[in-house]
Amino acid sequence: MRYLLLFLVAGLGACENQTYQIGERLYKTNCANCHLDHGEGLGNLIPPIAGSDYLKKYPDLLPCVIRRGLKDTIVVNGKTYAEEMPPNGALSDIQITNLLNYINSSWGNKQAPYELETVRELLKKCE
Ligand code: HEC
Repeated sequence: MRYLLLFLVAGLGACENQTYQIGERLYKTNCANCHLDHGEGLGNLIPPIAGSDYLKKYPDLLPCVIRRGLKDTIVVNGKTYAEEMPPNGALSDIQITNLLNYINSSWGNKQAPYELETVRELLKKCE
């Protein structure tokens, strides 16, 4: 029994690791050209994701920000940004979940992971 448990725990770890890597790949392909490889952002144009207080303040908005983009004036860590983020209409609900869980646990960010079901519910607001 003890061995079975160990096996299960190891299996879960590997699974988490894999979704992290999927999220990382999605980030590099779809986001890093603007937000840069370590989420540092770019001057006054692109807000940072690393250490962003926006992630903590508006977790319920993030799935729609990724799918539909954002054209607003927002404040991230006390700094105002007003450029446009383009939509990512080709990303599936699962890909958005993996992406969010990647940025929420990278570069010092430590937000609780999203469940796929939660992301699906939140995405209904911008269907
Ligand atoms: C063409 C450049 C561009 C791309 C590509 C892009 N973003 Fe953005 N992103 C922006 C800009 C500009 C804003 C601020 C929008 C505003 O002010 O309305 C923003 C805002 C954000 C925010 C909220 C503010 C913050 O920094 O916490 C998050 C989270 C975010 N983007 C994540 C992503 C993710 C994840 C991807 C990849 C799927 C992505 N972005 C792709 C330019 C981009």
